[in-house]
Amino acid sequence: MRTYDIIKKKRDGQTLVQNEIQQIIEGYVQGTVPDYQMSAFLMAVFLKGMTDEETFHLTDTMLKSGETVSLAGIKGFTVDKHSTGGVGDKTSLVLGPILAALDLKVAKLSGRGLGHTGGTIDKLESIKGFSCDIPTDKFIEIVNRVGVAIVGQTANLVPADKKMYALRDVTATVDSIPLIAASIMSKKLAIENKGLILDVKVGSGAFMKKLEDARELARLMVSIGKQAGRKVTAVLSNMDEPLGEMIGNSLEVLEAAETLKGKGPSDLTELVKILASEALLISTNRMINQSQASKKVEEVIATGRAFKKLVEMVQAQGGDQTVIENTDRLPISKDIVPLLAENSGFISAIECEEIGLAAMMLGAGRETKEAKIDFKVGLRLLKHVGNKVEKGEILAAVYVNPLLNNEAAIKRLSSAFHISQNPVQPQKLILDIVS
Ligand code: URA
Repeated sequence: MRTYDIIKKKRDGQTLVQNEIQQIIEGYVQGTVPDYQMSAFLMAVFLKGMTDEETFHLTDTMLKSGETVSLAGIKGFTVDKHSTGGVGDKTSLVLGPILAALDLKVAKLSGRGLGHTGGTIDKLESIKGFSCDIPTDKFIEIVNRVGVAIVGQTANLVPADKKMYALRDVTATVDSIPLIAASIMSKKLAIENKGLILDVKVGSGAFMKKLEDARELARLMVSIGKQAGRKVTAVLSNMDEPLGEMIGNSLEVLEAAETLKGKGPSDLTELVKILASEALLISTNRMINQSQASKKVEEVIATGRAFKKLVEMVQAQGGDQTVIENTDRLPISKDIVPLLAENSGFISAIECEEIGLAAMMLGAGRETKEAKIDFKVGLRLLKHVGNKVEKGEILAAVYVNPLLNNEAAIKRLSSAFHISQNPVQPQKLILDIVS
């Protein structure tokens, strides 16, 4: 079939068969389908949608466009977690060690931060000596011995997604449920884990603003994963404000370590406990129930076993584990500027994207791929949605580089806090579980 006819068929709302999807995606990766035809195709999918079957074929074709990562050398139940993105989201740093302490195996490939979102690799590299660039055999050896290792993504993982995502970004076709599901699941299925826990964020700071849309995305991703023979559960969690209190690289490592010691903020603690319990449930084929799973998760935190796994992982990947054992040694700025409330009232929202962009302006993130990060800077949120505040009260502690002019970043932070005159009821953190 001609590319023109595939686009027309989708434009007219008809269902594509597997080889039509393969033809257009493979052609685009090879360069025989130009950007303008792929743009039209993406818009047709955006407007007319896709059946579950079509989305599965799209995912499968995208995943086969590049390398896949075999985890056959790892003994035990390999499990991964994916979050649809957020600000202050350091769950991987906490969850990996908890799962390792539960005798599951976490071989994680993570990314760097760009724009307003932080990246797990940058956070880990704020630990002196820590390397995310280790040979595959050593990576597998660490996962077998410690239970968890986190490395950078290989360049050739799902090239179809890299090309398609760049085009979606400039053609207003990002927020399409089948396109998001295929983009995420192609990258997740390219790493041959047995289990996958999806953390689907809902709210003002997330791709999915509405609960019904997030539920549909979760259902679709779980269905694609199951069709590919993986065990998958999705947790829907609120993202109307950043997760936890800390934003910034060393600050987030500090918060992750505190959470593993049982002294973390309540929202982050609640989320990682649910994600870990769900991972345990899928790994045991639900032979244990939710309350037994949560008890086991609480046990590995209370006994210090989970914290010890973070120390072991840092040591195994060449990092200075003493900064985890004694977090006073983490590189964190001593120059702290208080951010004050401009009015009295109740916090109604803390805009995640604005907070993330302000953190980037402080130096905690990169505007371009080549930019260098300042691990020491960031902020600690002292108030959350629903809290009552008085004018002049401290909303956040901002950790700055005193050599920079931080005025614009601080102004941006201030405008990210919305204060209402009426009491505000915060949303529940865990909104649903789809399995
Ligand atoms: N994250 C992805 O990886 N892809 C999308 O399309 C949206 C969020």
